[in-house]
Amino acid sequence: MARYTGLINKYREYLPVTDKTPVITLNEGNTPLIKADNLARAIGRDDLEIYLKYEGSNPTGSFKDRGMTMAVTKAVEEGSNAIICASTGNTSAAAAAYGAKAGVKCYVLIPDGYIALGKLSQAMMYGAKVIAISGNFDQALDAVKEISTNYPVTLVNSLNPYRIEGQKTGAFEIIEALEDAPDYHFIPVGNAGNITAYWKGYKEWHNLGKCSKLPKMMGIQAEGSAAIVKKQVIKNPQTIATAIRIGNPASWEKAEAARDESKGTIDMVSDEKIIEAYNLLASTEGILAEPASCATVAGIIKLKDTLKQNAKLVCILTGNGLKDPDSAIKYAKSPVEKTTSELKDIVKLLNF
Ligand code: F0G
Repeated sequence: MARYTGLINKYREYLPVTDKTPVITLNEGNTPLIKADNLARAIGRDDLEIYLKYEGSNPTGSFKDRGMTMAVTKAVEEGSNAIICASTGNTSAAAAAYGAKAGVKCYVLIPDGYIALGKLSQAMMYGAKVIAISGNFDQALDAVKEISTNYPVTLVNSLNPYRIEGQKTGAFEIIEALEDAPDYHFIPVGNAGNITAYWKGYKEWHNLGKCSKLPKMMGIQAEGSAAIVKKQVIKNPQTIATAIRIGNPASWEKAEAARDESKGTIDMVSDEKIIEAYNLLASTEGILAEPASCATVAGIIKLKDTLKQNAKLVCILTGNGLKDPDSAIKYAKSPVEKTTSELKDIVKLLNF
């Protein structure tokens, strides 16, 4: 088998690239699809086949690498030497990494105080110019849209169509791994680019006869930021899942189209349920995904009685839990216990 060299090389016939395109890659994609029988049992639905698509194993630890390899590759191909994005953290980490790899300047705007520590460290280490604004993601996105219209810098948020092209390859990998599409596709919804991308990917391969059916798209938002569910822009979005703390999703209509065409749903879950799911996933499956990713697990739990018997579910775990150590330590059900270095004290605590 040929060495894996990233998703553009793997799926080039389905992507807008030519042999001359200068591929900027960190060997992203090819992420594991992990069967989660313990989770199915824990939620009282052991008839379900639940598969977790662990996007946290991408090079910068989130699904954003799929879109960013394409967006930065095309930016370079088109002669751009600077990229910009607004971000709740993961996009900025990915843009900064691919920007570094490509040797182009990277500018990121983030909501001050609402980005997980790991993500901020990444953007800083990869050498991006990081600007923290006293506003939320939606305001940062408005600013970068305006800036990229007026200055020579390429916007790499998911409004950039190449981001969607790269991200749709996640659907291809799922179809290859399951040898068909699943019955349900659970995915967190923030700015709504990823649900748009997966739906595009599934439809494209369905049209090519590579799968026999299409999944129901099950988008999950955080209650305090659930603009699509509540059918209104949220001026001051709130949630502990900072990655999806977004009140006016850029791909709102596309997400609704994915939901409606697939006869799926977009629902919401509370922070409390997200934290429960975060702990349950880690402690039953050995998978630490960041809180926004765990909104999907909370969504499965919320909707479990509506899912048909023996169904196959794929749940996209969008980001690595190591990105957000503060949340892990704050919300972990198993706290650190302290004692002296005396063996008897240690053994006492072990409580065998
Ligand atoms: N999960 C994680 C871990 C994310 O970082 C994001 C989005 C989403 C889910 C939602 O995906 O926006 O395509 O609906 N993060 C963006 C960012 C907004 O800036 O990193 P979406």
